[in-house]
Amino acid sequence: MTTSNAQSMAYEAISPTKAPSFPLDQWYVAALSSELKDKPLGRTLLSTPMVLFRTADGQVAALEDRCCHRALPLSSGTLEERGLRCGYHGLLFNGDGKCVEIPGQEKIPSKAKVTPYVVCERDQIVWIWFGSQAHPQPTCAPPAYDVHSNGKYLFDGDVYHYNAPYQLIHDNLLDLSHLGYVHLRTIGGNASIHMNAQMKVESTDNVVRVVRHMLNSTPPPTYTAAYPFKGNVDRWQEIEFHVSHLRIWTGAVDVNTEAVEDPERGGFHMRGFHGVTPETETTSHYFWTMATNPIRDPQTTLEKVIEQTVLTFDEDKVVIEAQYQNMCRFGGRPMVDIHVDVGANRARKIIEQIRHSNC
Ligand code: FES
Ligand SMILES: [Fe+2]
Repeated sequence: MTTSNAQSMAYEAISPTKAPSFPLDQWYVAALSSELKDKPLGRTLLSTPMVLFRTADGQVAALEDRCCHRALPLSSGTLEERGLRCGYHGLLFNGDGKCVEIPGQEKIPSKAKVTPYVVCERDQIVWIWFGSQAHPQPTCAPPAYDVHSNGKYLFDGDVYHYNAPYQLIHDNLLDLSHLGYVHLRTIGGNASIHMNAQMKVESTDNVVRVVRHMLNSTPPPTYTAAYPFKGNVDRWQEIEFHVSHLRIWTGAVDVNTEAVEDPERGGFHMRGFHGVTPETETTSHYFWTMATNPIRDPQTTLEKVIEQTVLTFDEDKVVIEAQYQNMCRFGGRPMVDIHVDVGANRARKIIEQIRHSNC
């Protein structure tokens, strides 16, 4: 579904039944649009196994990943003009989950159907609604992300699977002080400048904003690879946490040339979208895109930025999965907070409040 008709869709599908430990009444990222081509995609989201696919008219559909005949995962089936055909005995289901053909049998029992879920595609992201019992249907449109359609930016992205709970990914993204220790090869830079960056944290309406400025600092490798900085730079990091995703906009200008807080500032920009969707209580999907504003060789610059971003996110995955393994090894031992944890702790509080209100 495109942005223009996102608001007018008929919500016939239902929201899956979920474990109460996830915050509900939210749109979560189910897939990047680029993942849905000519094959069904099996994916568990919030402990709900589902199959995502595109119908012949290009709409995205999501169904329970279980054939109503003998329970084969529908994600192992094939796509056809009229829908998704099960790979065992050939029942054919449309995007609403209704069986529209049983090979060799004329009458289709009314019970021959599978559960459809509410999905909506917007700005190259496929969103799925997970509602509480009070709100099985969406109470708002899915989030917009117009960086994906802004002519000044080029972007690419990917999906990572994490053997770690989703909130550890939130913690990581809300605290960029780790850049100086984890990402020295890419977007890092001087650790002490990161740890001592001016930081402002605000929160309203279930959104947390963390803004950090690092003035007169050395540009890190990713920045110098993509932009002709003259020497030291003034850097900004603007993080906006939403329950199901974060926007992290970072960049730099040559030192003392422009105000870093000016939204119209020039220089080098990296605009990251980060969809964090629980797979289960202990595993997660991490959907990311990175956009940049090339001032020369657009395709080469994008490739460099993406290559460096992949290196960066690989490093995060190693750290977060090791962190979670060790948390399991040591049980629920208490941890100590330091100054960089303010944003992450506010996000955790918001999630606790939503989970409580969903009960
Ligand atoms: S299990 Fe799907 S058609 Fe038999
Ligand atoms: Fe990181």
